[in-house]
Amino acid sequence: MNPGTPTAPRTVTVRVPAKVNAQLGVGPVRADGFHDLANVFLAVGLYDTVTVTPADTLRVTCAGPDSAQVPLDRTNLAARAAELLAARHGVTPDVHIHIDKDIPVAGGMAGGSADGAGALLACDSLWGTNATRAELLDICAELGSDVPFSLVGGAALGTGRGERLAPLEVGGTFHWVFAVADGGLSTPAVYREFDRLTPDATVPEASPALLEALRTGDAKALAGALTNDLQAAALSLRPSLADTLAAGTAAGALAALVSGSGPTTAFLCADADAARAVASALTTSGTCRTARVASSPAPGATVLPA
Ligand code: C5P
Repeated sequence: MNPGTPTAPRTVTVRVPAKVNAQLGVGPVRADGFHDLANVFLAVGLYDTVTVTPADTLRVTCAGPDSAQVPLDRTNLAARAAELLAARHGVTPDVHIHIDKDIPVAGGMAGGSADGAGALLACDSLWGTNATRAELLDICAELGSDVPFSLVGGAALGTGRGERLAPLEVGGTFHWVFAVADGGLSTPAVYREFDRLTPDATVPEASPALLEALRTGDAKALAGALTNDLQAAALSLRPSLADTLAAGTAAGALAALVSGSGPTTAFLCADADAARAVASALTTSGTCRTARVASSPAPGATVLPA
């Protein structure tokens, strides 16, 4: 019997945010194949909700406009999260994981990482395994470099391969638009292209100007400090993203950049009205599949009241 199993089956639902990288500083490739990062994560208010219910066997279902693109087998990070937590605590991972997907299924917003962190927190609550925060973060890091941030949310500097997090202060609300591209970009391929384009990369550091802009909530200053060292590589593999970036800038965005390894592009706007205008211009520009408005920071993975 599972520890802490309640007398009647119950359901636990966790809400978990998407992210944007305000700075993605990338160093040379390491011996383990990963890259050292200075990764300034900001959680944004687009959420997946992950619901877990006791079941006869582990299974994953998904609903939402992009759900057909979500793998429902054991490669889904939500399934792997349940298996890793169960193995550590001698529990059988017999659980139905349902993902209500609102985070666009397109690289660069950590939607898969969000589902991993969400399922982990939900299973911990369902099974009463009472894992410590440190253990949950450890499992998240095993699942992927971006998964620990999905658990903690807010704003954080990720070092190492992005999994070692230090919280950052944010002094205001930032308004973003995300342009969702058709098709994906392979993250390992983007890093390989970065290696090819940047043979002299050095270990990166967080930008003091960017951290100050976050701390003071100054959108104009943040716009001037946003950087993504993977952007040239993403544009090299997908040159059409330059048209998306140009369309958002022409529509009044303060800054435009590729989000993470792409192909999602992110546009920082002066306020919520400007963000709505930029989203509507991008939607009709023909340079992306769809555009979504969201603000940051947003809270990390949170168990919703039953
Ligand atoms: O950790 P995650 O599974 O998200 O990483 C996916 C891929 O992205 C890795 O296999 C690696 O090719 C690349 N990566 C990297 N350096 C990082 C994070 C990811 O090279 N810091």
